[in-house]
Amino acid sequence: MSRPTILLLSGPNLNLLGERDPRHYGTATLDTLVGLARECADRHGYELEHLQSNHEGALIDAIHRARGRCAGIVINAGAFTHYAWGIHDALAAFDGPVIELHLSNPYAREPWRHVSVVAPVAVGTIAGFKDDGYVLAVEAMVRTLGR
Ligand code: DQA
Repeated sequence: MSRPTILLLSGPNLNLLGERDPRHYGTATLDTLVGLARECADRHGYELEHLQSNHEGALIDAIHRARGRCAGIVINAGAFTHYAWGIHDALAAFDGPVIELHLSNPYAREPWRHVSVVAPVAVGTIAGFKDDGYVLAVEAMVRTLGR
């Protein structure tokens, strides 16, 4: 029997992790973080599918493709978090749980980062744990799906 899939989405500029503002985002590359997240999902009996995109439409298309196919979505929408209502609407039309992820804590930063269009359609948010965030978010998804 095939294992259920968790979809992990990384939004704009997250391809620059490792080079970009380590004070907020830590020092690991996205490949490293996704590798750790995949190991965590695997330990718990889940497949992990990952997509990074700098384009809102590509993320929306991936959310649509997950409908009826993926068990849950973990999303670090990057700056799209703060204004991309198309991503909000796509997530609202997804049939499983959504977990919002940030490496930094947006609420301790500039005021424009205090708004999230993902939060209203998410079970909860993992934020502020830098390099540990991706694994913590997958752990949270595994627990949510196991309830
Ligand atoms: C981020 C926080 C966002 O405000 C920012 O635009 C990002 C990364 C984070 O992971 O902390 O690109 O989502």
